[in-house]
Amino acid sequence: MSHDAETVAALAVGTSKVAALVAERDERGGARVIGVGVHSTAGIRKGEVTNVEGVTGSVEKAVAAAEKVCNRPIRSVFLGVGGASLEAQVGRAVIPVSRPSAGISSRDMERALSAAGMTAVPPERETIDVIPEDFAVDDGERVANPEGLHGSRLAARVLIVTARLASVQNLIKSVNQAGLTVEDYIPEPLAVSLSTLRAEEQKSGVLLIDLGAGTTSCLCYRDEVLQAMSVLGVGGDHITNDLSIGLKILQGQAEELKQKAGCGPEGAAETLALPAGLGRAPLAIPRARVSRIIELRLEEIFSLVRRGAAGAEIGRGLGSGAVLTGGGALLPGAVALAERVLEVPARVGRPRGVTGLSEIIDSPLFTAPAGLAAYGFQAREAGSSRAKERGGPAWSMVKDWLGKYF
Ligand SMILES: Nc1ncnc2c1ncn2[C@@H]1O[C@H](COP(=O)(O)OP(=O)(O)OP(=O)(O)O)[C@@H](O)[C@H]1O
Ligand SMILES: [Mg+2]
Repeated sequence: MSHDAETVAALAVGTSKVAALVAERDERGGARVIGVGVHSTAGIRKGEVTNVEGVTGSVEKAVAAAEKVCNRPIRSVFLGVGGASLEAQVGRAVIPVSRPSAGISSRDMERALSAAGMTAVPPERETIDVIPEDFAVDDGERVANPEGLHGSRLAARVLIVTARLASVQNLIKSVNQAGLTVEDYIPEPLAVSLSTLRAEEQKSGVLLIDLGAGTTSCLCYRDEVLQAMSVLGVGGDHITNDLSIGLKILQGQAEELKQKAGCGPEGAAETLALPAGLGRAPLAIPRARVSRIIELRLEEIFSLVRRGAAGAEIGRGLGSGAVLTGGGALLPGAVALAERVLEVPARVGRPRGVTGLSEIIDSPLFTAPAGLAAYGFQAREAGSSRAKERGGPAWSMVKDWLGKYF
């Protein structure tokens, strides 16, 4: 595949914005961002394409803007696949150990993982990634690395991430129509985790929440293993809608009020002014009223997070609490509300290990494209860009993971 080996381009197609990012390796092995382009999205609902032409147009504009900044053309991209159709299911398999007297070999582990990854998914869904979880020997405890252990049966557990096949096809078609090839694609929440989470957090247990415009994606790591991933079809735009309907104001006004008021206790006695516009008289609205509407919806979103597959891991103990990212993390008071509803400490997630254009990039709005760029470098170095291997299940994660041990 023709690409400039020194740089990667990442594309995150969100419900509210398309973000294109071009990065090169810096001296310390991180990513130096040399181009960014953002454009509002047309034709996406809850992270899924509803209008191919609209999305193509948005992608073209975001990519053109990024090309202008770095003054080089973008031909292929690492793409995030997100949206409400994303799901993770557990795959399991048990295989006989090839030479029980010699102990379990890396080949046995690979075979067990492969068999677990073959767990059937419904025909209308595509497997986007297969992520190794752990092993068990005979009927023993779960272990991360069973190499050398004695036993006759080896069980493997994987997380199979799938999306609606048509959603993936529509997204790729929109990107291809913008004149781009897709070098590889991964689940977007996984990309976000690559740019935001620290290794210690992944070990001690962390819940990552990407509060976007039309979706809220969650995933949970413990013991460095991805435990669960889930996507809700609700996000920050629902808060804006509530304000628009509840206060009988325009969407644009509601968005402005939302960002200004937030849901924290600060300035509760203030009144917020809305200038006259589109034939309407100016308005003065008590901040407390605005905050209450925001709080109700956000509380609902965090409650849904808690009840989802990733949020359920809170009950098993998360030493590092929660990390909130996506545009919703910028809402004043959102982190405190997350802490109250989820009953764990929380922080805002911003891209880590990224330099260049930091005045733009250093924001929870850019954790998805930054993570996709980080993945791009990893995939290139591992020579595992799955574009070559597509057709079967996606195995790069398995290979990367096996690479850690062998
Ligand atoms: N400063 C801010 N304060 C409050 N909310 C904000 C702020 N900036 C952006 N948002 C909200 O964040 C959301 C957009 O976030 P983001 O760009 O992460 O979403 P997206 O990736 O386009 O959508 P999705 O991930 O759901 O497909 C919008 O609902 C927007 O109103
Ligand atoms: Mg997003």
